[in-house]
Order: sequence, then C-alpha cells, then structure tokens
Amino acid sequence: MATELIASLRDIVGDPGLKTDADATASFLTDWHGQYHGAALAVVMPETTEQVSQVMAFADAHDIVVVPQGGNTGFMGGATPDSSGHSLVLSLRRMNRIREIDPTNMSMTVEAGCVLQTLHEATEAEGLYFPLNLAAKGSCTIGGNLGTNAGGLNVVRYGTTRELTLGVEVVLMGGRVLNLLSGLRKDNTGYDLRHLFVGSEGTLGVITAATMKLFPQPVARATAFAEVRDVDAAVQLLHRLQAASGGGVEAFELIPADILHVVFRHFPEIPQPLATRGAMNVLMEIGSTNPASGMPDETGEAPLQTIIQDTLAAAFEDGLVIDATIANSEAQRRALWDVREMAPESHKRSVGVVRSDISLTQSALAPFYAEMVDGVKTIDPNLWICGYGHIGDGNLHFNLVADERSNSDFAEKKTDLYDLIYDKVAKYGGSISAEHGIGQTKRAQLAKVKAPEVLDVMRAIKASIDPKNLMNPGKVI
Ligand code: FAD
Ligand code: LAC
Ligand code: ZN
Repeated sequence: MATELIASLRDIVGDPGLKTDADATASFLTDWHGQYHGAALAVVMPETTEQVSQVMAFADAHDIVVVPQGGNTGFMGGATPDSSGHSLVLSLRRMNRIREIDPTNMSMTVEAGCVLQTLHEATEAEGLYFPLNLAAKGSCTIGGNLGTNAGGLNVVRYGTTRELTLGVEVVLMGGRVLNLLSGLRKDNTGYDLRHLFVGSEGTLGVITAATMKLFPQPVARATAFAEVRDVDAAVQLLHRLQAASGGGVEAFELIPADILHVVFRHFPEIPQPLATRGAMNVLMEIGSTNPASGMPDETGEAPLQTIIQDTLAAAFEDGLVIDATIANSEAQRRALWDVREMAPESHKRSVGVVRSDISLTQSALAPFYAEMVDGVKTIDPNLWICGYGHIGDGNLHFNLVADERSNSDFAEKKTDLYDLIYDKVAKYGGSISAEHGIGQTKRAQLAKVKAPEVLDVMRAIKASIDPKNLMNPGKVI
C-alpha cells in the first residue's frame, strides 16, 4: 500500500520532489533543538501551488495527515510529525520564487519557501526594505514566518509578520486554493481570512505564497549597548529614546549578565561590549531613511549618534544608565549584535534549559522580572537567569540555563520552574507565547490558560476548515 501511495505522489511531484530514504528524510523529522523526533511516509517537496493542491487532494482522498514545513527552525515542534510514520511532511522549500516586487505599491509577492535572508537581499537590491528579522534568517522561510506569525528583532518599529502581511495564498485539505493575495492596504469585504492563516501553525491550510509590505531602506543607523540600573530603567530608556528619535527605535533588546556569561562561554571570540559585565543591559538601535542622519558633522558625530548619545547621557545623569558604548563602525555594530543573536545557539549548547517566550505590558515587566529572579533562586540558586529579548515589545525569553554548576536534579526541577513562569505570567495578565506559537510544546498549557468558550470557537474554526483533522493534528489545539 505504502509503495502505491508513494508512486502516486511521485506522479505529482516527480523524483526531485520526493524523499523517502531514512538519510534523506532525517533532517526533516527532527526539530532544530533535537527535542522532537517523528516519522513520515515521505517528505514531499512540490514546486508549484498546483502541485500542492494535487498533494492535498491526494492526502484527503487517502486520509493522510499533512505537516507543512519551511526551514524547520521553529521552537515549538510544530513542523515535526508524530512517530506513526503515516504522515506526509510537506516541505515548501522548493517553492522559492519571488513572483513580484512592486516598488510603486511598496510590496512583494513571494512563495512560501523563500528564505528570509534571500528576501532581504532581493529587496535591498531594489533599494527597499523588508523588516522582518530574526537570528534564523539564513534558514527560516517566509511560509514558516507566516505559519508562526514570527516576531523577531524589529517588531518594535514594524510589527509582527501579521502586520507585514497584505495577502496570502492558501491550499486547503482537499486541494482547494484560496487566493487571498492582494496588495491592498484597506479591504473590509467580510471576514479577513488572511489573519486566520497567519499564526495557525499549519493546522488550517498550507500557505503557498504571500504579499508582504515593504518599506524604505534605513540608510543611517546608530547602535548602542548600555548597562542599565534595572528592568524599570530599561523601559524608561526605551520611551526616552522613542521620544528623542521620533519613533525611530528599530530594536530594543534586554541582555542580562547571565546571557553574557552563557554566550561568551560558548562563543569566546565575540568581543565584550563593555569593560565590565553589568547586571542588566540593553542593546538598542535607531534608524533613519534620511541619508543625512548618518553624515558626521564638524564634531565628527552623525545626527543619529548624537540622539543616542544625548539620550544616554541624560539617562546617566538620572541614574538609569551606568555605562554605555556606541558602535563607531559596521564591524562594531555587528559585534554588538552577535552577543544578542548567539543567545539561542548558546542555550542549545548548554547542559539544560527551561525556555519561555512570554509577553507582558510594559508596566508589568519590572515587577515580573524581580519576582521571577527571587522565585528561580529559591528553586535552584545555581541556574543562569537569562531573561532576555525583545523588551521593546514587552516580549522576554525568560530562559533558565543549567551547566555543570547546577544541581544534577535539574530535570526534576523543570516542572517547578515552568509552573513559576506560568504562574507569574498569569498573575500579570501576560501571554505564554508571544512569538513562537504553541506547536506541540505548549498545547496543554494553552488549554489551561484559554477560556473554554475561546477554545470552543478555535475548535469550531478548525473543524469547519479541516473536518477530518488531517492538517497538522496534535498541534496548537
Ligand atoms: P518551520 O519550523 O518549518 O515551521 C514552523 C511552523 O509553521 C510549523 O507549525 C509548520 O507546520 C508551520 N508552517 C511552515 N511552513 C508553513 C506553510 N507554508 N504554511 C502553513 N504552515 C507552515 N522566532 C521568532 O518569532 N522570533 C525570533 O527572534 C526567533 N529567533 C530565532 C532564532 C534562532 C536561532 C532560531 C533557530 C529560531 C528562531 N525563531 C524565532 C523561531 C523560528 O525561526 C521562527 O518560528 C520561524 O518563523 C520559523 O520558520 P520556518 O520556516 O523554519 O518554519
Ligand atoms: C530569540 C528567539 C529565541 O529572540 O526568539 O532569541
Ligand atoms: Zn525572540
């Protein structure tokens, strides 16, 4: 039976579009962290929407589960099939054409398998800017970014993937193609189905293409790393910098001392930003599309640098900032960003980690952080407390990293640590998933935190679009 099914799939996608050998499929069946391992009938890699539609009609006819996959960099196990071996992994990687860049409409229509960095390069070549940016940019795809509603480093200025999306093309189970591609900025013609598919983690349909917003390319930037008094000072500094730069903050990331410890341990070649490692730090960047903002004046300083310098100087006077450095070259800027961007990889290389992706109101960040530090120390004083990330969006990855210093019973403490995180998130009305989604990792937690009537509506939507539950089952709800 399996042989016949595979022969039929080969008829649709051809030899280059089908992988069945253990060696060829292995990397598609394990997630980035090596935490989830699945099995599949085959990995199918269509090249066109028409082929995706045929695969989906075939899957429906034979009641075969389909698990969409892009770059397989997701954090929630959403792209990994279960271990039954009956599913198809539908990899979009070969659907990687840029259908159109429209500079007049400031938009592009791209296929789901386009790698994010390729989109950066293609738009930059047109003098335009696609602002979605994450450390996985060299391997994640726009389809996966849409599937997870990815956030990343520049949300504070440009919004999440959802806010960058003008339209999508989706193939439903059974093969129907929903063409919701559009370059329109305004369109109130009924339910906005595009938003249903963005962030649905492959549980409703396969996104095959999307129309995304483009922006003018920032041509001047100023980047600084500052030690701040505490989390409250970081939030105050964000607001001051927004005001001083006219809303020009491109990125604003929290970096506690323990992140520095873990990153430099695994990447000692990255230069230390400041002479001493402060307890709490911020990496900030402001940008402008006005070339004159980057031109040094007679004092040798550029306007954007002056904004950041004056803001930091005033914050220093007021006791919010303790020490700071401003990048004076692209190489120095890159080195500051390396400290931040290597955080996920350094955690992956550690002995153990409790990972989270929470968001809170700006007002709740400081009390949450202080209570978390106390709580973690009570459970295990030897953990590295790496509450870091997109504080400009109220989004922290409050990760707890174990090394040989930690007690050997770290595994047993994980439940207490997750309970602590989720209790505090609930106390402050936060979210258990700001940007990574739910996947299989947080499915049980979602069921605990969402009201029954909200879950009912989610299930009703799922059942109406995918009545046989063949689209990525076991994920999200
Ligand atoms: P995959 O991992 O392949 O899939 C993710 C989910 O989307 C799965 O549920 C899958 O079924 C679904 N999916 C994939 N393609 C489609 C499609 N075409 N149609 C429908 N559903 C689909 N995430 C952030 O939000 N912010 C960050 O700052 C960030 N930093 C990261 C840094 C590193 C080093 C790494 C490894 C990951 C990071 N991530 C971050 C997580 C991850 O990169 C994002 O979730 C990304 O959007 C996933 O894209 P992907 O193509 O790898 O998707
Ligand atoms: C980050 C990923 C983990 O921001 O979302 O580092
Ligand atoms: Zn993140």
